[in-house]
Order: sequence, then C-alpha cells, then structure tokens
Amino acid sequence: MSILVTGGAGFIGSNFVLDWLGACDEPVINLDKLTYAGNLENLASLHGDSRHLFVHGDIGDFAQVARLLAEHQPRAVINFAAESHVDRSIHGPGEFIATNIVGSFQLLEAVRAYWGALAEPAKAAFRLLHVSTDEVYGSLGKDDAAFTEQHRVEPNSPYSASKAASDHLVRAYHHTYGLPVLTTNCSNNYGPYHFPEKLIPLLIVNCLAGKPLPVYGDGQQVRDWLYVKDHCSAIRRVLAAGRVGETYNVGGWNEKTNLEIVDTVCALLDELQPRADGVPYRAQITYVTDRPGHDRRYAIDAHKLERELGWRPAETFETGIRKTVAWYLANQPWVANVLSGGYREWLAKQYGETA
Ligand code: NAD
Ligand code: DAU
Repeated sequence: MSILVTGGAGFIGSNFVLDWLGACDEPVINLDKLTYAGNLENLASLHGDSRHLFVHGDIGDFAQVARLLAEHQPRAVINFAAESHVDRSIHGPGEFIATNIVGSFQLLEAVRAYWGALAEPAKAAFRLLHVSTDEVYGSLGKDDAAFTEQHRVEPNSPYSASKAASDHLVRAYHHTYGLPVLTTNCSNNYGPYHFPEKLIPLLIVNCLAGKPLPVYGDGQQVRDWLYVKDHCSAIRRVLAAGRVGETYNVGGWNEKTNLEIVDTVCALLDELQPRADGVPYRAQITYVTDRPGHDRRYAIDAHKLERELGWRPAETFETGIRKTVAWYLANQPWVANVLSGGYREWLAKQYGETA
C-alpha cells in the first residue's frame, strides 16, 4: 500500500511527509511542481529512503497524475498542492486560478478515473483528502462565534476564493460521482520549514537581519494559530477515521492579534539570541500599508474533529512558538538557502526592498 501526496515539498506537505514516515513505513509518492514555495531541502533527511519517491510534476497534468496512479495504485491521495500566499494572490491571481481551481479539477478527474476502475475492496477503502483553509469562510467580527463547518462560504481574496472553488469541486465529485472525499479547513500553521514570506518566519528572519518588522495596518487582525505537526496529526486522523463526504475544521484554539505574535517572537529572540546592542527586537517594528481587503478575524471551532475523531492539538501556542523560534535559530543554513533566488525578488516586489 502507498499514498500519493501532492505539494509535499512545501511547508505543510513536507512536514506531513516527514511525520508520516516517522510514524509508519507506508511509502509516499510525492508529486510537486517545485514552485518558489517547494523546497526539496525540507526532505533532505529522506535522501536514499526507498519509502519516499519524489516526482516533479503538476497536479494539472492529467496524463502524469493518471500514470502515477496507475503505476503505484495508492490507497489515498492527499492534496496539499496549491498557491498559498494571500499577498501573492493580490499581486497576481492567475497562478491561483490555474493551480487551485483548474489544477484541482484535473487532479479530481484523474482520481475519479482511477477510483472508478478499482475493484472492491480497494474501491471502498480509497480516500481523497483535500487540504483547505479557514479563509474560505471569510472574516469574523470581534464578537462573532468561531467558524463551524456550517458557516457560510464567503471568501474575500483571490487565494481564498480559489480554495473555496476547489472545496466546492471536491464536494461535487462526492455528491455527483460518489468519490470518497474528505476535506479539512485549517487555521494558520506555523513551525519548521515555513517559507519566510509568511508572517512568523518573516519576523524571525528580519529580527536577526536587523530589518524592519512590517506590521500591516494597525496589527489588530486576529488569526488562530496551529503548530504544523498538529495539523499533520489531524490530517492523519481524518484520513484514518473521517466520515466520507464530510468537512472537518482544524484549529489550535489560539486566537492572537498580529501584534501579539510580533511581541511574542521578539520576546523569545530577546531571550534566546539578544541583539548585540541590547536593544529589544520590538524596536524594529514598522507599520506599513494594510493588505487590500485584509480579513479582520479568523477563529476556528474544531469541536467536530474533537467530538467525532478525538483529535486535540498537542502544542499550546507558547510551546509551539518556542520550538519554532529555536528551530529557525538552529537551522540558519536552511534559511540562508531560501533567502537566495526567488525569495529576494519577492521581497523587492512586496516591500520595495532591493534584493
Ligand atoms: P506552500 O505554498 O508552502 O506549499 C505548496 C506546495 O505546493 C509547494 O511545494 C509547491 O511547489 C506545490 N505546488 C504548487 N502548485 C503546484 C502544482 N500545480 N502541482 C503540484 N505541486 C504544486 O503551502 P502550505 O502552506 O504548505 O499549504 C499547503 C496546503 O495547505 C495548501 O493547499 C493551503 O491552501 C493549505 N493551508 C495552508 C495553511 C497555512 O497556514 N500555511 C493553513 C490552512 C490550509
Ligand atoms: O488562515 C489560513 C491561512 O493562513 C492559509 O490558508 C494561507 O495559506 C496562509 O498563508 C495563511 O494566510 P495569512 O494571510 O493569514 O498568513 P500570512 O502569514 O501572510 O499573514 C498572517 C497575518 O499577518 C495576516 O493578518 C497578515 C499579517 N502580515 C503578514 C505579513 C507577511 C503582516 O502584518 N505583515 C507581513 O509582512
């Protein structure tokens, strides 16, 4: 038996592959396009490990996905592959439509053809797990109840709209064709191998480089934060026991304003690697123009996952963020490699920095 993971060289996908192979010996076929966000260095510890097969390719390439499915006969497909950065979707939505909508459609078509030809009992046991985001639900007011799976879908950015479209397609393939799907909608992840254009790794990297810490608008936007390894354990649990056709929210019960995040990261670095001049890292905070259409608050109600499948996150925000900052301090060569190339061009575009 094996599983096919798409987008397994990205932040969450690579954590998932490492987590999976740390927990069992079931082989992983890892299909990834290696966009700017895909980094095979994340999987360096699997070099020479026959349980991991990396395949360079696109979920939108029907023929390639169909070949892979026919050759390896996986019992499940877990779809992480996506364009994932809201700011990039504002600068250029085209790639988001191509991968998150059209790519997901082609993937669904290839999986439907493969699954349709399977014999029992493999056909009944097969699962497609689609990894999605809380952003599809839109934005909450300060006192609104957290998103449940019944919350209306009201995406506000090209990124979240493209993810919502893929969620709808996945749902429709179950409803129309009976494809055995599962969908997870998760809150903001953080942890090892997080690409440093997203808030938490960007803060760590900029603190250490003596650069400004860019806070959009007033910094009072709220996100729910989940340590990435807890997201991985939730996906494993949903894959193992989730009810076919259902959606499960995944969250950390950790609502924080962005400014609280900035303060926490700065305080941890003050403790673990203080500035040579003794000035607190908070001094580097710089307020910048807000993200257009910036969602004010996300909050996830993960009771369904807890009630039905017994899942709870293992980390609190305090333990998870300490591990994360320590990981970045211990893995400066990884950071240095990411900072070369495409990432520098992105910094120039987003913040007007010279690469
Ligand atoms: P990421 O941007 O770090 O990684 C995406 C990966 O997908 C990269 O390795 C990239 O090369 C690959 N990819 C992109 N287009 C592809 C294509 N057409 N074919 C094959 N591979 C392709 O993203 P992430 O943060 O790891 O997110 C993974 C998934 O989880 C996404 O679907 C995202 O929407 C979802 N999600 C992310 C978060 C978060 O906080 N990061 C939270 C909830 C849900
Ligand atoms: O909620 C889940 C989503 O979380 C995922 O679906 C996305 O793939 C993932 O990228 C993440 O989206 P966000 O837009 O919330 O993450 P980001 O790290 O870009 O921003 C987090 C918050 O910090 C957001 O309110 C914007 C703010 N921010 C971000 C950056 C990069 C800043 O204030 N300054 C910054 O420089």
